This record gives sequence, C-alpha cells and structure tokens, in this order.
Amino acid sequence: MLDKATPPTLSLGLDEPSESFDLWSDAGYEIIEAKRRESRENELAKRKPRTYTQVQATQLIGRSESFLKGKGLNDAWSDSGLPRYTLKRINELRDKTGTRYRKPENVKPLTIALAKLKGGVGNSTICVHLAHYLATQGLKVLIVDLDLQASASGLAAGVNPDVDFDKEDTVYEILRDAPMDFPSIVRYTYFENVLLAPCNSVMQNLEFELVEQIQKDRSEWPKDEDGKPISVYNRLSVGLKTIENEFDIILLDCPPALGTITINALTAADAMINTVRPNPLDRTSFAVFNSSLASLYESVPKPLRYYRILINQMDRSRASELEENTIREIYGSYVLKNTVVESSEIKGAPSLMSTLFDLEKPVKSSNANRRAVDSMSRTFDEILTDIKALWEMEAEDNG
Ligand SMILES: Nc1ncnc2c1ncn2[C@@H]1O[C@H](COP(=O)(O)OP(=O)(O)OP(=O)(O)O)[C@@H](O)[C@H]1O
Ligand SMILES: [Mg+2]
Repeated sequence: MLDKATPPTLSLGLDEPSESFDLWSDAGYEIIEAKRRESRENELAKRKPRTYTQVQATQLIGRSESFLKGKGLNDAWSDSGLPRYTLKRINELRDKTGTRYRKPENVKPLTIALAKLKGGVGNSTICVHLAHYLATQGLKVLIVDLDLQASASGLAAGVNPDVDFDKEDTVYEILRDAPMDFPSIVRYTYFENVLLAPCNSVMQNLEFELVEQIQKDRSEWPKDEDGKPISVYNRLSVGLKTIENEFDIILLDCPPALGTITINALTAADAMINTVRPNPLDRTSFAVFNSSLASLYESVPKPLRYYRILINQMDRSRASELEENTIREIYGSYVLKNTVVESSEIKGAPSLMSTLFDLEKPVKSSNANRRAVDSMSRTFDEILTDIKALWEMEAEDNG
C-alpha cells in the first residue's frame, strides 16, 4: 500500500511530497477507521461512575456521618463489603436535604476561557480537573474543547478523540457552518454533570477556513435565528447562547495561539483564567500574551466578570519560589493564593484516561496523590468561593 510513499532505496527527501503525504494520510485513516470500529464494538466509552465512601459522601452532602448509616441508599459495595455512593446519588441527597449550592437564577452562567500562548503549561489538565472538581461540588459544567490536540476531549470523555469522534461530532463543523446546531455535539461524559463539546485533529483546517470565509460575501456566512449572518469571530458566542443556560459554568480550553479560534473563545467568554508555570520562559511568553490581549480587548472592549492567574506545576525549589514571588509582584491579587503542585500523580492520570477527582485509587503513590488532590482542591475551592461571591453580588444587583 505504501509502495510509492516508501521508495525501495534510502531516500533523503520526497520526490513527490503531495503523493507521499496523501498515501500516508490514507494509511493513517485506515488504521483510525479500524480502531474506531473496534472501540465502538467494545463500547469503550461506557464506564462505571466513580463511587465515594460513606465518610466522603456525607462530607460532600454536608451532613454528619450518621446521616447515611443503615439507610441502604448506597449504589455499590466495596470489595470489603462497605457501602459506596455515586455523585448522582450524592446530588439527589443534597437536593433532598437542601444542602446543594445553586447558582442564583437571576445571574448568567460564567463562561471561562482558559487561554494561553505557550503550549504545555497544563491548560487542558487544569480545565478537566477543574470541571470535575466543580461538578463534585454540585455544579453543572460544560467543557468546550477548541484545541486540535484535543487533550481535554480525551481526558473528559475517556477516549481517543481522533479514533472515537467523527468530524460531525466536534466543534469543527459548528464553528465553520452551523453555530445554531451547537447542542447537537454536546455529549455526556463518564463524570456526572460534566458535559463536553469535543474536538479532534479535524480542527487543523478551521483556522484557514475561517480566514477564507472573511473574504467571502456575508450572504455565504451561517445565519443566526433572526437570519443575520454570523461573523467568523462570533460563531462560538452565538452557538453557546443556544445552550448556556443549561449550565452553571462553561470552560473553554483554548489552543496555544491567538488566532481566529481563540478570538472566538475570548468573544464568547466573560471570564478568564490563565495558567502559568513558575519559570522565566513561561513568564516572558505570558507577558507577550498580555500584550496581544491588550490589543484584542482594545478592539473588542468588554469587561471580564472574573479574572485570575493560576500557578501550575509548583515544586519546592528555591528557583520556583523566587519565580512565584515575581509573578505575584507583577500581577498582585489576581494570582490565586493557592498553587497546583508539580506531581507525578497529575502527570500519570491521563494514561488512565481519568483525572485525580475521578480515580478512586492513586495512580502510584498514596502520599503523592493526597498532596496533588489537596493542592488542586484548595486552588479550585478558591476559584469556586470567588465565583459564588461574584454570583451573590450580581444576584443582588439584578435584584
Ligand atoms: N501539575 C502538574 N504536574 C505534573 N504534570 C503536569 C501538571 N500539569 C500538567 N502536567 C502535564 O504537562 C503536560 C502538558 O499538560 P497539558 O496538556 O494540560 O498542557 P496544555 O497547556 O493544555 O498543552 P497544549 O499546548 O498541548 O494544549 C501533560 O503531560 C500533563 O500531564
Ligand atoms: Mg491543551
């Protein structure tokens, strides 16, 4: 099959790049198709939800331990015969006893762009872990994956996005042609109350295709419900409006570039969290990103309801501590007080297609797991506390 792409003798170049890449692409897609069939047959995506011990469940419900004792409300039993509870059950019990936090009805959900310029800072890791944490606290969260690397889709859905999602399952066609169809791609995930609008590598052409559309006559652009053409920068914002009220929080996982797709995210978002790592290279790239954001918000002036900087991959070195101090000197109280630690547990979770808030057991080490979960929980709780304060303030203003 690869005869022409792989010449019989060693070649240092490609005589006909187009033909070779075409053949390799066909071969790649054949393998993807075979895997897709296999995974559908195995129903890979169906997994049992995480369960919690009785102590964990009562803490989450906000009641004393005796609350669940002997009531037989558990969904499963542990190997040693102890009761275990799903988040679905915990939420039902929260609703029944009135301990579930509810976003005030007269405030809008918060749409948070997780934007960055530099790749690999932990943006997608933070995105999906934050979604799982917020859902554990009783909120309903939508993750919108806008990065063709699709790490957030993989982690949130527990699948291989290039194998398991077709083009029409992703945000690609929505942003290109049909923003009003946004709800059709939103899917449930293995985690209660976390839904996903996925993407995969089909997104690679979208940036060019959107730029091409700018040149076209407006009559060829997709239309909103009033029949008005939707500009290439507003596709996500218009699409999200069709579904946003079903959620408390919407998290937008952005690609590491300030192109048309990220501009869509920033146009749709009314909040932003920037993840940075404590090293000078990341800080420099973040300063460059700040300058791009300055120009962007100058051309599209709008306030952010919430803005914070999250320091990820904090280790115990003196260099990281100095760097953290520098970041705090520049950005002051916009930097979250808590930081997320550098941890082999956080790094290891994606290989189990999971997050630390979904896994019932450590990836490898109990101590390391506790440290990582604690640091994430503290950081995300700080965010949730801020958001609740914001909503309460807005609810009063909207009175
Ligand atoms: N706190 C952490 N401790 C250890 N490893 C981490 C931590 N946060 C993220 N990582 C690891 O760093 C790598 C990059 O993370 P991630 O994919 O979330 O970054 P990203 O900013 O979304 O990158 P990309 O530009 O590829 O989208 C992954 O291997 C992830 O597991
Ligand atoms: Mg990412």
